[in-house]
Amino acid sequence: MKAALIYGTCTGNTEHVATLIMDALKPEIELESVDVFKIKPEQLNEWDFVICGIPTWDVGELEYGWSDIYDQLDDIDLDVTVAMFGLGDQGTYAETYQDAMGILYEKLIERGATGGIGFMPTEGHDFEESKGVIDGKFCGLALDEDMQRDLTEERVAEWATVLKKAWPEIVEKSTTQTN
Ligand SMILES: Cc1cc2nc3c(=O)[nH]c(=O)nc-3n(C[C@H](O)[C@H](O)[C@H](O)COP(=O)(O)O)c2cc1C
Repeated sequence: MKAALIYGTCTGNTEHVATLIMDALKPEIELESVDVFKIKPEQLNEWDFVICGIPTWDVGELEYGWSDIYDQLDDIDLDVTVAMFGLGDQGTYAETYQDAMGILYEKLIERGATGGIGFMPTEGHDFEESKGVIDGKFCGLALDEDMQRDLTEERVAEWATVLKKAWPEIVEKSTTQTN
């Protein structure tokens, strides 16, 4: 079972949170930490399970490393299970809060990735609109280091519990796919 956490970051927040998530998932889930700028899109298939970490930038846009990957995904069929976490700022960008997480997730699923893991309730976040919300929930872990930094640790811990619970099923699915 090969698993990675791939993060993109402009000012370091997502990288910082990535380390918190990796620590919280141990020892059940061991992840390789990967900077999104170091991979090409087809390499996503080298892992069985990938956690994608992405902040929203430029008002509703993807962080640049993930944006490069996104632009090249149309020619690639994915065979990987994904979970998402996003960073945003609900105070300044209430109408595009966490958009990048949703935009990237939709694209990964469209290209064949397996998803539906680690969706989280929107309660506790104060925003107007978000492409990160799918069927009433965030399509992953939504974090806000600008407005709600004090909640990050407990949100990460809660999400880690959810992922650890789903882990046996993720492993089984990946083994079945490989066979
Ligand atoms: C110019 C600028 C544009 C931003 N646009 C958005 C946005 O549209 N939606 C959102 O939720 N957050 C937005 N943010 C907030 C960032 O996503 C947030 O600060 C995040 O923690 C940055 O993560 P990073 O340090 O990993 O790059 C923006 C921040 C800046 C400075």
